[in-house]
Amino acid sequence: MSDLKVGREQWGSRLGFILAAMGSAVGLGNIWRFAYVTGESGGAAFLLIYILCILAIGVPILMAEFTIGRRAQSDVVGSFETLAPGKPWVLAGILGVASAFIILSFYSVVAGWSLHYFVQYFTGGPSLGTEGGYGGYFGEFITSPLQPLIWQFIFMAFTVGIVYVGVKKGIEKSNKILMPLLAVLVIVLAGYSMTLGGTREALNFLFSPDWSSLRDPEVYLAALGQAFFSLSLGMGALITYGSYLSKDHKLPGAAVSVASLDTVFAIIAGLMIFPAVFAFGIAPDDGPGLVFVTLPEIFDNMTGGVLFGLAFFFLLSAAALSSGVSLLEVAVAYFMRKFQWSRQKAAIFIGFIIFILGIPSSLGMGILSDVVIFGRDIFDTMDFIASNVFLPIGGLIIALFVGWGWNKAEVLDASDFGNTPIGNIWIFILRFFAPVAIFLIFLSAIGVI
Ligand code: PHE
Repeated sequence: MSDLKVGREQWGSRLGFILAAMGSAVGLGNIWRFAYVTGESGGAAFLLIYILCILAIGVPILMAEFTIGRRAQSDVVGSFETLAPGKPWVLAGILGVASAFIILSFYSVVAGWSLHYFVQYFTGGPSLGTEGGYGGYFGEFITSPLQPLIWQFIFMAFTVGIVYVGVKKGIEKSNKILMPLLAVLVIVLAGYSMTLGGTREALNFLFSPDWSSLRDPEVYLAALGQAFFSLSLGMGALITYGSYLSKDHKLPGAAVSVASLDTVFAIIAGLMIFPAVFAFGIAPDDGPGLVFVTLPEIFDNMTGGVLFGLAFFFLLSAAALSSGVSLLEVAVAYFMRKFQWSRQKAAIFIGFIIFILGIPSSLGMGILSDVVIFGRDIFDTMDFIASNVFLPIGGLIIALFVGWGWNKAEVLDASDFGNTPIGNIWIFILRFFAPVAIFLIFLSAIGVI
């Protein structure tokens, strides 16, 4: 198999791979999406289900994606075609490429907002009108037709730029520097936010469950979707990244590091955002604008807040970029192989299509806000279809493939687990536990159980 793959790109080092996978996982999902979905879903009970989903379903599937990618050394569709030629498992690959298009289309909208805020902090922070404070400012910005589109375009241009340069130089390098910086800043800001007076309420909200919210089946689906989204799971980003890894690297350690860091990041982001939410009397279920309204309040109250604002939105944009890059890479790797395109051509062409596809999500905040599909605006619809439907279904197929569709001895070997108890537990989870759990969560969400 390997003769065909001569000349395929590779990571420079194991650390480079882990950091890139972390860069893919840590992004707007940990800060922006985690905060608002947790806020909307009632806090602690949701957080608990989310963490259970990560541990019992997320980590095993993450490991499955790394294993598939490294063994097959191909893009998300090619990997299934290589390991199971002519079998229907490739559906997961096709769903994955579709998810890459959809997710990046709305992800770039929010990343564009982040870039806009970054530039605002160059000139002292968002300039507020007479009324409405930061909430009013945010509302006015996202509902205007042209401004957010310009920022979304700029974000896509950066994303294309990195993918254009390639795996080792582009993706690997940018992650090594920016990720640790973001981690430090989020910790510092969480520390400060906890001095603002809302800490007790925030800790209650995040850690003392209101069990009655577990009666709402939507909460389970939201938690599952958030787990997949945050871990970059179910659409082959980690298959694709795993495919640039050579055989002499160990996978299980990498999988656990990526999942732990991602989860700790989200919880610290919660400790940064919710104390401020309560201190400033913002509603936790304020929706997708939550961090864009809360954080400027924090910066407003800090000495040197403008500098913190500048640094924060720079690093948030950078984290979004390293995730956006992994989304684009899924589609680019597929088109390069399938149509024999150069990396450059694929990056520019697909990047442009995704930008166009994202325009309605942005306009749905303003001039297209009347377009409502099952109670959701265009942006929420894209997010719901990709995160809560496509990713879990993709993950389900991946689990079933590794559990049932692939020879067990070969799987254990390809995963570096070998025939160990933990390897066998992993296979058991992929065979039974994860598929059944995902299936039940779907059934309950559509009201069957
Ligand atoms: N995990 C990324 C984040 O949390 C988003 C993402 C989802 C990236 C799916 C790749 C694939 O921001």
